[in-house]
Amino acid sequence: MRDWLKTLPKAELHLHIEGTLEPELMFELAGRNGITLPYDSIEAVRRAYDFSDLQSFLDLYYQGMAVLRTADDFRDLAMAYFRRAHAEGVVHVELMFDPQAHLARGVALAVPFEGLQRAMRQAERELGLSTALILSFLRDRPAEEAMAVLDQAGDYLAVVDAVGLDSAERGNPPEKFAAVFARARDLGLPRVAHAGEEGPADYVRQALDVLDVCRIDHGVRSLEDPALVERLRESRVPLTVCPLSNLRLKVVDTLEAHPLPAMLDAGLNLTLNSDDPAYFGGGMLENFLACRQAFGWDRETFRRLARNAVEAAFMTPARREMLLARIDAA
Ligand code: HPA
Ligand code: ZN
Repeated sequence: MRDWLKTLPKAELHLHIEGTLEPELMFELAGRNGITLPYDSIEAVRRAYDFSDLQSFLDLYYQGMAVLRTADDFRDLAMAYFRRAHAEGVVHVELMFDPQAHLARGVALAVPFEGLQRAMRQAERELGLSTALILSFLRDRPAEEAMAVLDQAGDYLAVVDAVGLDSAERGNPPEKFAAVFARARDLGLPRVAHAGEEGPADYVRQALDVLDVCRIDHGVRSLEDPALVERLRESRVPLTVCPLSNLRLKVVDTLEAHPLPAMLDAGLNLTLNSDDPAYFGGGMLENFLACRQAFGWDRETFRRLARNAVEAAFMTPARREMLLARIDAA
């Protein structure tokens, strides 16, 4: 099954590029930029990845990304991830990035944009990957700051496929960003948002009603509200579920206890994703394999999940048709 899951063409819709920073590259970039890390070895970094919840992860995630200073750093980070993903049979990657986290460290908006765009073009040329870019706002910072980023982005918005919403969910409801997302819609930008990861099902409803999103990131707590489940099933709004992330951040105690099978049974439009693969124990292939192990899913179930992702992706109609045909033939 491992070999078959590897050859299955997989599209990844929920990935934080800063969460692909492996400890080896963290040390290399720290050296290049004259930054001293609070760890004395790569093993010590990995040992620190023992999270109790979302916030305990976010603390290390924001600390780790401090080694990213130049456009070349962002290009190297993304290219390293694209190579690993390509080797796992990933054919399309939508990467989120957190400009506010970099601005707060004195890294200008142009730096991640330039570096990530270079890597995206190189991956399309050299690896045959298609890619999309999602500018994510930090929900635990003021909405005015997010609005300022949108205003500053200017010409770079031409290379943005969607805006998103991430970081600490509890106490930061989607409605806090109503004005920012309304502006994004006026600018013609599609919208996605993390909701129902640690926050309640009502945040999923708010993301749909107030932010007018076309996809929900995570959404695993949706099952707590039957009316919401019916609405999600009926509207086929895609949920980008991240099994290993949910396990490592203790959203679930074991993978066997994950609501994924119940969500499938409820007829929800699900996709599998890696979220922050350097922090959560593996990329797309490991997430698919973990589901195979925990739920015993057959090939048809994995084909359906792979199809859902391609159908929900930001890509050209021609590429979508081609990838759907490849999945059907797998
Ligand atoms: N949830 C919220 N914010 C994030 C995540 C996540 O899983 N990863 C990176 N930022
Ligand atoms: Zn995420």
